[in-house]
Amino acid sequence: MNTSIKLGSLKLKNPIILASGTFDRNIIKHIEVKNLGAITSKTITLEPRTGNPLPNIVKTKYGFLNSNGWKNPGIEKYFSEELPFWKDAGAEVITSIGGFSDQDYIKLAKICEKESLPAIELNVSCVNVHKGLSYLADKKALIRLIKKVRKAYTKTLIVKLGANVTDVVDLAKISLNNGADVISLTNTFPGLEIDNKKMVAKLPLKIGGYSGPAIKPIALLAVWQVYKQLKCDIIGGGGITDFSDALDFTLCGATGISIGSGQYLDPKMAEKIVDGFRKYITINNIKNINKIKGKII
Ligand SMILES: Cc1cc2nc3c(=O)[nH]c(=O)nc-3n(C[C@H](O)[C@H](O)[C@H](O)COP(=O)(O)O)c2cc1C
Repeated sequence: MNTSIKLGSLKLKNPIILASGTFDRNIIKHIEVKNLGAITSKTITLEPRTGNPLPNIVKTKYGFLNSNGWKNPGIEKYFSEELPFWKDAGAEVITSIGGFSDQDYIKLAKICEKESLPAIELNVSCVNVHKGLSYLADKKALIRLIKKVRKAYTKTLIVKLGANVTDVVDLAKISLNNGADVISLTNTFPGLEIDNKKMVAKLPLKIGGYSGPAIKPIALLAVWQVYKQLKCDIIGGGGITDFSDALDFTLCGATGISIGSGQYLDPKMAEKIVDGFRKYITINNIKNINKIKGKII
């Protein structure tokens, strides 16, 4: 029985990938990251960022609203401290990069190329940084960015989109036609939570990115639509909290499966889902996990 997958030229032992920004070093107290397909780093910028004011995450009835604001140590410390930590733990690492201009992304992509990183994910869909959604609102800008990054970086190029757009298939198509190898779907959705007793928004910057169980059907639809139309490599996720949720993404066309804020409910969840896939393909005598990909389209 084979659980291995390929995203562009990146080969992973199984589809399970930790989603950017949703875990920290403490996760190794709960799971062996080397048993996962990969982990995605938090979004890394050129310079360190302290992130948005606290509290930057609140629990809601059906999910989480975060305003992390790309808190990260910057690319230099990423290479000297973060990446070595995850490599020592045996993880395959996808590096998420973010910027405030084309130039930022290109500089980061060039550094990642020089360091021979196997895969980068362009975060062009962040709700909680200034102009974080601007590339999704401007197709020409998105095309220009991806073309430039493609020139700077030769390995697996993943573009992470959001699904709160008019036509997610169109944005995925544009991304693939201009050099992306893989589409990652989906990022969080813009949301607001208020405290009606104190008469304030719960997050200091008010608007946050909504994630967790409630977004699963929306994320699943985006994956299904993109796979149905484009038959491309997709990392699918949003609201996954157990193996059954993860299987749904595979059946709708996802090659990789991203596990995000579900980990707040159970930090062992990603490893449990890896086991779930192993058992499922064994019990059902499925020789290769890719055989069930996109069965429901
Ligand atoms: C606290 C928090 C921080 C996040 N930070 C990032 C980030 O730095 N870069 C990114 O691409 N996505 C980030 N995300 C989005 C997740 O990677 C994921 O796409 C999203 O939460 C949807 O999946 P989920 O419902 O399984 O959490 C963050 C999400 C949360 C909850």
